[in-house]
Amino acid sequence: MGEKGRSIVELDVKALLAELKKAYLDELLAFYSYWITAQVAEGFHGEELTEHFAEDATEELGHAQKLAARILELGGDPVVHPKEWEVGADHKWVAPRRDRSDAEGMVEDQIRAERDAIEAYNRIAKMTFGKDPVTYSLGTELLEEEVRHEEFLENLLGRRAGRRKKAARRR
Ligand SMILES: [Fe+2]
Ligand SMILES: [Fe+2]
Repeated sequence: MGEKGRSIVELDVKALLAELKKAYLDELLAFYSYWITAQVAEGFHGEELTEHFAEDATEELGHAQKLAARILELGGDPVVHPKEWEVGADHKWVAPRRDRSDAEGMVEDQIRAERDAIEAYNRIAKMTFGKDPVTYSLGTELLEEEVRHEEFLENLLGRRAGRRKKAARRR
């Protein structure tokens, strides 16, 4: 990052970089979880969920990209050997459920990952508020998207539960 850009950051850059790196690795793991879930999932109702997982995978990869750019600007290094991804991340990566038709279970797993991401970006936003406007703006942008992801998935589960109840009533 440019000299001036770095000079306006009024906090411990090392500590900030450690947070950003964890978030970055969590995004890479989320990308892979969602992407591989989209590949192997079976028996989902229509293509709705498979498509959803594929789309979200792309969004999480976009988050990783933005974090990598900010890590570089702050003088950090986003290059990490893949075998270190999980070691350096905040959370373990989530494999698709063994039962590949357990759509609800896989959505529940994703909701948990989104909640972890919400916590992480809230932490980053608080840490940078009034001290590093650029990272603050990135943190709140990503926070907003993770909040949207959680909301969407909760509604999706609600809708599916509603459909199941209706079907049960018809029987
Ligand atoms: Fe994300
Ligand atoms: Fe997300």
